[in-house]
Amino acid sequence: MLTLAIETSCDETAAAVVDGLSAVRGAMIATSRDAFAQSGGVIPEDAARRQLESILPVVHGALKQAGITKDDLDAVAVTRGPGLLGSLLVGTTCARTLAWLWGKPLIGVHHILGHLTSPWLGADTPPQFPLLTLTVSGGHTELWLRESHTRGQLLGRSRDDAAGEAFDKGAALLGLPYPGGPSIAKAAESGDAAAIHFPLPLQKDDTLDFSFSGLKTALRYALRDAPETDTNDLAASYQEAICRHLTDRAAKAMARCPQAHELHLVGGVAANTRLRAMLSEHCQGITVRAPALKFCTDNAAMIGAAANAMLEELGEKAFAEFSTEAALPLSAAMSS
Ligand code: KG4
Ligand code: ZN
Repeated sequence: MLTLAIETSCDETAAAVVDGLSAVRGAMIATSRDAFAQSGGVIPEDAARRQLESILPVVHGALKQAGITKDDLDAVAVTRGPGLLGSLLVGTTCARTLAWLWGKPLIGVHHILGHLTSPWLGADTPPQFPLLTLTVSGGHTELWLRESHTRGQLLGRSRDDAAGEAFDKGAALLGLPYPGGPSIAKAAESGDAAAIHFPLPLQKDDTLDFSFSGLKTALRYALRDAPETDTNDLAASYQEAICRHLTDRAAKAMARCPQAHELHLVGGVAANTRLRAMLSEHCQGITVRAPALKFCTDNAAMIGAAANAMLEELGEKAFAEFSTEAALPLSAAMSS
């Protein structure tokens, strides 16, 4: 199954040719992230205008890299939401048009299903269901127990900010550039993670939910009350607190779901090396898997793999009509 996938949910313009669930034949990505480094975040209209310019060169680049033409393709897939509406429309309009012109079936993919499928990309041994997935991105922090690609149960989610948002907002408070995750991770390399103690959130509740807003407030107070503290020490301590909270929930989910064979870490924040190390250390007795770094942050290969997984499990239903939705709910990613 050779699928051309397009992903434009945030500030990236990505296209990939994926064979099955694991083989990436070609992938290209254009990002306007550097343009937003100083603005503290993405300016949606600006991002969409840039995507409009790069979408066709990126699609052609991916096909060329794969060494194929449109005739070799079995399907076209595209992220249908959630994300920035203008950006999503650039991707879905392009994919719809290409699928129609080329006479190929079109598959609309939930962005989160893409992240959930990313550990299959390039994997030597395919993951085994049932498994736990911790999704940590700029807009999502969730724990799933999954029976298959398209069936599963949401065990917990953030009650306020997402993990990536906690990094991004923390970086803004510390005066570090957007996106905050890589900036904080870099500053943390030369900081002392034990310099400041941050409380572990939601310790009293018997829940697998997350909460990051308290950590952000604690960082604000630390900056107010001890402004002389080294920025690298603050970054390292704050990163440590976010990672401890995520690891604590993952370990709790593991204890609750002994039937799970694997624990997956996906989404932009999965690129964080401290988080990867902490999870592997504290979640022994289960296979911990995270995709290669290039498949953690938004990319089109994960959308292609998810489309192929949908086809495998849903058959013709994968080709169902779909709308482009900025606020596509999580329930559209997976059935229980
Ligand atoms: O999955 P993603 O690329 O986009 C969304 O779907 O949101 O995730 C972006 C998020 C941003 O909040 C960014 O700060 C965070 O991932 N991020 C990281 C790292 N690289 C990206 N967070 C922590 N450490 C990193 N190395
Ligand atoms: Zn994402």
